[in-house]
Amino acid sequence: MTELATTPTTATHPLDPLSADEITAAMAVLRDGRELPPRLRITSIALEEPAKSIVRAFRSGDPIERVARIVCYDRDTRTTAVALVSITNGAVTSWEEIAGVQPHLMLEEFFMLEDILKADERYVAALATRGVTDLDKVQADPWPAGNFGSDGEWQGRRVCRAVSYVRDRPDDNGYAHPIENFVAIVDFDAGEVLELIEGDIVPVPEPHGRYDVEAATEGGGSLRTPAPLDITQPDGPGFTLDGQLLTWERWSMRVSVAPIEGLVLHQITWHDDDGPRPILYRAALGDMVVPYGSTATNHWWKNAFDAGEIGLGQLLNSLELGCDCLGEIRYLDSVSVDQEGQPFAQQNTVCIHEEDFGMLWKHWDFASDSTEVRRSRRLVVSSIATVGNYEYAFYWHFYLDGNIELLIKMTGIVQTQALADGEEPVGATRIGPNLAAPHHQHMFCVRLDVDVDGGPNTVSELDVVPVEGDHPHAFDTVTTTLTTEQQAQRISDAGASRTWLIENHGKLNAHGQPVAYRLMPGYSPTMLAQPGAAIRERATFATQNLWVTPFDPDERHPAGDFPARHPGGDGLPRWTAADRSIEDTDIVVWHTFGATHIVRPEDYPVMPVEMLGFMLKPNGFFDRNPALDLAPSPKHCD
Ligand code: NI
Repeated sequence: MTELATTPTTATHPLDPLSADEITAAMAVLRDGRELPPRLRITSIALEEPAKSIVRAFRSGDPIERVARIVCYDRDTRTTAVALVSITNGAVTSWEEIAGVQPHLMLEEFFMLEDILKADERYVAALATRGVTDLDKVQADPWPAGNFGSDGEWQGRRVCRAVSYVRDRPDDNGYAHPIENFVAIVDFDAGEVLELIEGDIVPVPEPHGRYDVEAATEGGGSLRTPAPLDITQPDGPGFTLDGQLLTWERWSMRVSVAPIEGLVLHQITWHDDDGPRPILYRAALGDMVVPYGSTATNHWWKNAFDAGEIGLGQLLNSLELGCDCLGEIRYLDSVSVDQEGQPFAQQNTVCIHEEDFGMLWKHWDFASDSTEVRRSRRLVVSSIATVGNYEYAFYWHFYLDGNIELLIKMTGIVQTQALADGEEPVGATRIGPNLAAPHHQHMFCVRLDVDVDGGPNTVSELDVVPVEGDHPHAFDTVTTTLTTEQQAQRISDAGASRTWLIENHGKLNAHGQPVAYRLMPGYSPTMLAQPGAAIRERATFATQNLWVTPFDPDERHPAGDFPARHPGGDGLPRWTAADRSIEDTDIVVWHTFGATHIVRPEDYPVMPVEMLGFMLKPNGFFDRNPALDLAPSPKHCD
């Protein structure tokens, strides 16, 4: 055994993410405790979170056991394993090989792909028949291969589907020049091309799609420069950051980053004068999927789980002051690992700042000609991931009146399809002379481990319906308690103004109502793929806007821990088949929402942000407006 004279832990809280030193120590313990095969790859290393009871009982200075969860993949045996390593005790506490699954795409595979393709004579010859002879100009993107039940020829293999583009110059936008009807199946373990799938040759579109300053001023145009707008906080930010603990106004939470989920918030709490009131134990993206509606050779199979299959949390941007966030900013760094398990720092992956948000509440009293108005402010905790062609930016907002919001901004570059002269796009929008962009959806599933006023919690559905009788104008609410997992699979209904209450039946407010938070879904579709589509089985979470499960620490990802190449059925559909009780217990609320992206010409060559999300609003959590105690703004309004 490796003797760890002193634990490398500098963690001051059980939920602190693993440091680089802890990751190095965990790998040393793993290497010492097991004979590791020569082609073992490490796909992620993250904190194995302690039980809630341990976290809740923790007091500053208590001893902390630190456990790393290491996901491994052996390229020789095509085996996936999860190791739990106690860094504190210097021991491998478990090693579980999981049959028939694969970890997410690895960073090294992004980089391997072009080498494998360009070394393949068939690939090079096929490019030549399409008029592409300069391999230095070829860009290849790896896509999760999916699983359509008919690909027995690749069963069990770690394959991707690669689509190719031409870059006219190193800083070109390759998506302007797609090589259509041309998909390569690549086996990363064997390092070889298994198959080329080819259709009709379509000339590669020529107009460039660059979007830099040079492109914007092409032909003598000038740049718009809006008037300077500086956001200053002369006394510094209003929040404090103590390690991972963030406190602001009446809010506190712990902020970290995880390899699959990206931004993770723990122990989101509102602090009344009487003490802390928990709202969420943990909030994070569970997974997401981007199914395409096209039937074309290059597109019909595109169904990326950008978190579970690609590892969104390891693809975070290093954010830049004044560009990604504006104002008095504080950043958090995070740590990722390479495929040897070596840690490397990702700087400035989380941005924390405050934003003025206009008016919070106001009234002008006619009789006395007096006005009371208070301004709104929100705390923003944000992170941006670049997953291939797209950027996904996650903004958690916390408001002075107890509202919580997740806003997701999507930007980047849409998938593109080359059109032959005279060809009309099908399942796609024309965005250029010979260029189209296929229709698709972005479906996000957020896992909300709720803890409203300390729990236990119950979810009720609140619909608004017309009242039959003598008053045709009348409407009223109908509340339905969701008592089991099957009953709690629900879709949004704007016609019924449907929302969901997350109630604590053990805590009543001054009006005798259970204290609650209300989940306010945004305008959102469910998955459009029809029954019989493989993706419905693989991403069943996207067929409902709401799921509720009893808390289980192993139920973290709505399509299962390993959706890559998975045939389907894992995650929410498997767990909820038991139809467990979800009444007055520790529950997890899973909210799926998304956007159906019928691409606009304005989304090209780079897409202005598309926004979506949801809110959690206090609903009888307080006895009245909790923001009466805000001081009027000092300069003009008192
Ligand atoms: Ni899109």
